[in-house]
Amino acid sequence: MPEEDAASEKNFYESTPPPDMGFFLKGAGSLDWGMKNRLSRIFRPETGKTVMFAVDHGYFQGPTTGLERIDLAVPPLLPHIDALMCTRGILRATVPPSMTKPVVLRASGGPSVLQDLTDERVSVGISDAVRLNASALAVQMFIGSERETQSIRNLTTLVDDGLQAGIPVIAVVAVGRDMVRDARYYRLACRMGAELGAQVIKCYYTQGFSSIVASCPVPIVVAGGQKLDELDALEMAYRAISDGAAGVDMGRNIFQSDNPLGMIQAVVAVVHGGFTPAEALDIYRGSKHTAGITR
Ligand code: R5P
Repeated sequence: MPEEDAASEKNFYESTPPPDMGFFLKGAGSLDWGMKNRLSRIFRPETGKTVMFAVDHGYFQGPTTGLERIDLAVPPLLPHIDALMCTRGILRATVPPSMTKPVVLRASGGPSVLQDLTDERVSVGISDAVRLNASALAVQMFIGSERETQSIRNLTTLVDDGLQAGIPVIAVVAVGRDMVRDARYYRLACRMGAELGAQVIKCYYTQGFSSIVASCPVPIVVAGGQKLDELDALEMAYRAISDGAAGVDMGRNIFQSDNPLGMIQAVVAVVHGGFTPAEALDIYRGSKHTAGITR
C-alpha cells in the first residue's frame, strides 16, 4: 500500500519542471546512463574538457624516459589530472586502488618498438576492464597501414564489448611511418573512428584542426606527442582547445618536463581555465621554484 496522503507533509513541486537530462558531450546524447556517467568522470561537466595523463608508453617501448618508476612519477600529479591513461599491469602493480581518478585503460597491444607497431590486437578482456573499474578503453587505429582492417576490428570488438558493459572506447589515431600527418588524413581517421562506434577520438593537433573537429561527431582529445619546449607544448594545447578540442591526453610533455607538477598545472590552466600559453608558463615556472614539488 502507498503511504497515506498527508498533504501538509508532502511536496510534489508540481510547478518545478523535471531535470533537463540533455548531455554536455558531443555525440553522447543517446548513450546509456552508465556510459554517460563514466564520460562525466573523464570530462569535467563544467568545462566539457579533460586533461588525461598518459603513462601507457611502456606497453610497446618498455621503461620510457621519465616513467622508469611509475610508482614515483604518477602519485604527485594525481590531484591535478582528470584521468589516468595506463595499462592494466601498471595499474595493478603501482597505482594505489584508493586513487579515485578515472582510469582510461590501454586495451590494445602486441608488438614492441622493435617490430611493426601496427600489428596490434585487443589486449584486455571486457570482464577485466569491469573488474578494474575502467572508465574508458583506449585502442589504436592504424588507418592507411596494411593492418588498418585488423586495427578497426580491434576497435569494433571493444566498442561492442564496451556497449555491453557501459564503458566508452577512445579510438587513438596512430600515424603509420609513411602517412602524411595533415588535416585530410586526420579527418578521414577521426571520422572513421566515430562512424565505427568510438565514443571519443584521440588525434594529433595539426593545421586545419577545426575542420577535423567539425567533421567528427564525437569529442576529440589531442595527443601530446614528442617532448617539446614547455611553451611550445602549452601553445599546442591552447591552439587545440581554441580549435575545438575536448581536452588533451598528454604524456611526454608532462613526465619528461623538468617540472612535471608545474607542467600539469599549466596544462590544466590552459584546458580548463582559458589561460594563455604565456600565463600558463608562469604557473609552470612559479611552481618550479617551490620546494619539494619538483622531481
Ligand atoms: C601512444 O600511443 C601512447 O598511447 C600515448 O599514450 C600517447 O602517445 C600520448 O602520450 P604522448 O603525449 O607522450 O604522445
